[in-house]
Amino acid sequence: MKIGIISGSVRQGRNSAHVARWVESSAKDLGLDGVEFEVVPLAEYHLPVFDAPVSPMANTEPFQDPAVASWSRKMASFDAYILVTPEYNHSVPGAMKNAIDWLGREIYGKPIAFVSYGADAGVRATEHWRQIVANFEMVAIRSTVALGLFTDFDQNGIAPQARRAGELAGAVNSLVATTRRWQTAA
Ligand SMILES: Cc1cc2nc3c(=O)[nH]c(=O)nc-3n(C[C@H](O)[C@H](O)[C@H](O)COP(=O)(O)O)c2cc1C
Repeated sequence: MKIGIISGSVRQGRNSAHVARWVESSAKDLGLDGVEFEVVPLAEYHLPVFDAPVSPMANTEPFQDPAVASWSRKMASFDAYILVTPEYNHSVPGAMKNAIDWLGREIYGKPIAFVSYGADAGVRATEHWRQIVANFEMVAIRSTVALGLFTDFDQNGIAPQARRAGELAGAVNSLVATTRRWQTAA
């Protein structure tokens, strides 16, 4: 089973790189048999703003733009996802929404968990993501991790409170169990 950890911010000096690395190392430390984790830094894809004439869900041919094609191939290669998302203006960051707007079958019906962060821990972003991924019939995991900028970070990046390790383990274990059920049913 391959799980993609999407490091969602494209901002210069982004915290998402720190958060995604913490998610990756904590998830790998769980020692789950047959489960691989890979960080996907969205910023490295330099995706254009969505301008295709058709919705990706209705598209029959892969998009030609090399950045979009590379993003599409990478996202299709995973069985499930952990979305590392900041909260921007009480919602999801526009660049992340744009990246998801380029996708259709690549992520359709697959399980997804959320790790959010922000001044208010990013809970509003996660709840907005649940509405967005519903359009792909994705299975959104109930357990989440919500990191506060003033309580789970320091000047070097992420410094999670002790309870966060258990919260992350809960979300990852639920994601893996759900993905196994989904694969058995498929
Ligand atoms: C444009 C913008 C809007 C933001 N809006 C919110 C917000 O509504 N709520 C919140 O809790 N934090 C907000 N923040 C704080 C971010 O969550 C925080 O800066 C976080 O580190 C951003 O993630 P990044 O560093 O990975 O880009 C905002 C930050 C930016 C840049």
